[in-house]
Amino acid sequence: MAVYAFWNNKGGVGKSYLTFQVAAEYARTHRDQKVLVVDLCPQANSSSMLLGGMIAGETAIESLAGLTPPRTISGYIADRIVSPYVDTHSGANYLTHVRSINPQIPDNVYLVCGDEELEMQAAGIQLACAAGPGNAWQIVHTWIRNLTEDVRRSWDQHDITVFLDCNPSFTIYTELAISAADRLIIPFSADGSSKRAVRSVLALVYGVQRRPGQPQSQFFRNTQQYRMALPRIYSYVGNRLTQMNNSSASAFRNVVLEIFAEVYRVYQGNPGAFVVHPNSGPAPTSRQTFRAMFEEQINDANTASVVSGALGIPMYKLTAGTKSFAGKSVHVNQSQLDRQQPNIRDFVSKIE
Ligand SMILES: Nc1ncnc2c1ncn2[C@@H]1O[C@H](COP(=O)(O)OP(=O)(O)OP(=O)(O)O)[C@@H](O)[C@H]1O
Ligand SMILES: [Mg+2]
Repeated sequence: MAVYAFWNNKGGVGKSYLTFQVAAEYARTHRDQKVLVVDLCPQANSSSMLLGGMIAGETAIESLAGLTPPRTISGYIADRIVSPYVDTHSGANYLTHVRSINPQIPDNVYLVCGDEELEMQAAGIQLACAAGPGNAWQIVHTWIRNLTEDVRRSWDQHDITVFLDCNPSFTIYTELAISAADRLIIPFSADGSSKRAVRSVLALVYGVQRRPGQPQSQFFRNTQQYRMALPRIYSYVGNRLTQMNNSSASAFRNVVLEIFAEVYRVYQGNPGAFVVHPNSGPAPTSRQTFRAMFEEQINDANTASVVSGALGIPMYKLTAGTKSFAGKSVHVNQSQLDRQQPNIRDFVSKIE
């Protein structure tokens, strides 16, 4: 079972958008497998896109959250707040078969829908970490792993592929997601603050210190204390590459180079924190081979991306032409599709 988390400590870098596009593309190209998306962000953006976008998706989220118990991540978390240290094995009760709501999504995609209630539950999760047995923190940090196991068992499968969408801030539910993941994909955008955000990821999850004696995150220290596995870095993804003109392209290149340098330094000190892929391939031994393996780029598809998300139509299925949503009509150009469709296809083809 491979569990991928999309996370960066910075907002708006494309975590939800990529979760949506990657899960749909992965499902399309792996028809014999079941794909699970767990939306661990209270904003529920990837759920919204998967369930049909701005209108249909939002309506679906409302109705799933309105069930008793809610058929969302909050339904499951409520079970675990009541029974924090004894596995409830109830994860599969909170699944939604995405295609039954959004016909644009392949038949093999299932979702544990996001829910704004998760924000309110954070205090309860934290309380469960602090109370209870000596290793309460550790047990609570396996809740989402328990959930994915419940689903796998209910499907009677050895192997499923899971994508976790995360909130940018390193709150308790983001910690739970990171603890459940075995592979981490770090999207970043072209602006100057991206480098700091990627540094934060490396510090918060892997305890990478900028200066000797700098305090390490409680999360990192606890995972060490309880000998818990951390997700290993799968890739860092430059998202929304703007190719409008040469100067912005070269500014982006600089950001990418700086982020490469940060990540590569970690690789040199701790290659075990990375997933060599494809599986059989040799580990990178040079800057060049490292970048070829771990660095990805997804171009900005402008209006096409807006339409894809707003209508819940994955990029591979979107066609050029005039589309209407929210009472407006917009035009999707073939050139916009050409800019991103191959990126997503190539990126997903490397996901094992
Ligand atoms: N490659 C892309 N091309 C065009 N638009 C994009 C692309 N990636 C993301 N976007 C758009 O950028 C915006 C931010 O993306 P998204 O919501 O996925 O970021 P996020 O990292 O999940 O944000 P948050 O931290 O708030 O959860 C969205 O409107 C999304 O549609
Ligand atoms: Mg998001």
